[in-house]
Amino acid sequence: MPLVTSKEMFRKAYEGGYAIGAFNVNNMEIIQGITEAAKEVNAPLILQVSAGARKYAKHIYLMKLVEAAVADTGLDICLHLDHGEDFEICKSCIDGGFTSVMIDGSKYPLEENIKLTKQVVDYAHSKGVVVEGELGRLAGIEDAINVADEDAFFTDQDEVEVFVRETGVDSLAIAIGTSHGAYKFKGEPRLRFDILEEIQRRLPGFPIVLHGASSVIPELVEDVNKYGGKMPGAKGVPEDMLRKAASMAVCKINIDSDLRLAMTASIRKHFALYPEDFDPRKYLGPARQAIKELVKHKLVNVLGCAGKA
Ligand code: G3H
Ligand code: 13P
Ligand code: ZN
Repeated sequence: MPLVTSKEMFRKAYEGGYAIGAFNVNNMEIIQGITEAAKEVNAPLILQVSAGARKYAKHIYLMKLVEAAVADTGLDICLHLDHGEDFEICKSCIDGGFTSVMIDGSKYPLEENIKLTKQVVDYAHSKGVVVEGELGRLAGIEDAINVADEDAFFTDQDEVEVFVRETGVDSLAIAIGTSHGAYKFKGEPRLRFDILEEIQRRLPGFPIVLHGASSVIPELVEDVNKYGGKMPGAKGVPEDMLRKAASMAVCKINIDSDLRLAMTASIRKHFALYPEDFDPRKYLGPARQAIKELVKHKLVNVLGCAGKA
């Protein structure tokens, strides 16, 4: 069974009011934990690889591991490049067997972003690969920035129609207040659902992507800190906000930090309890299991995509 694109997944997710989980992968245990969870609850799945992951594990290892997961689980899996920063890395992933790429031109002015994104779309589509573009800046919002300045970070709703029309992208990542990593909000978590609603109105039926969507699950942070870690003030997107986004036009929800937390909490706990251990299987095995439990929770209780494969 080959890898698939996200086209059909997004069509069904939009209609069904749920979202597909896009989980970042870096090694075998992470890939196994995620795919075993998806298999158990029969969920469609996107595995995504960053430039950093590709450098860490090598393209060919990740490719072969994901192919092994498809053969092992029989699941439809989409393999996606996360935050491709130029045409070359997108082309390399397309030529190397990925079924989806993100070209992240969000740091460029609109015209330049459109030009770069269209170049990737033209190449990707000629090879049957789908493309995610991005509009808006996903920076952490600093306390010092006032509300008027804050708007400069969010996706400009006046730009989305021209961007989608002129580039031909298959999905669009937007900035409505999330940010990457474990420290997303200084005060109360707040997402601009009004912007999402307006984008949904302007692009009916079009799949929207939410980056920086880890919830930074408090119990995991607690475990990390209990067993010697130092992550004071870590805060993520509350699960009810993700459920709301998934019921709207958001069809893809990106999760990496929560996987890192689950893995780190498990390994820290293991060494606190068994300081004499030095067999990697003894701590990577439970870490894989922790990832599996976390992903099952997301698929069933947050994204709503269990049973939709
Ligand atoms: O959005 C970024 C992802 O969390 C990947 O992070 O570039 O450290 O692999 P990374
Ligand atoms: P988190 O850091 O919130 O997990 O976001 C991951 C992401 O957006 C990957 O592209
Ligand atoms: Zn991201």
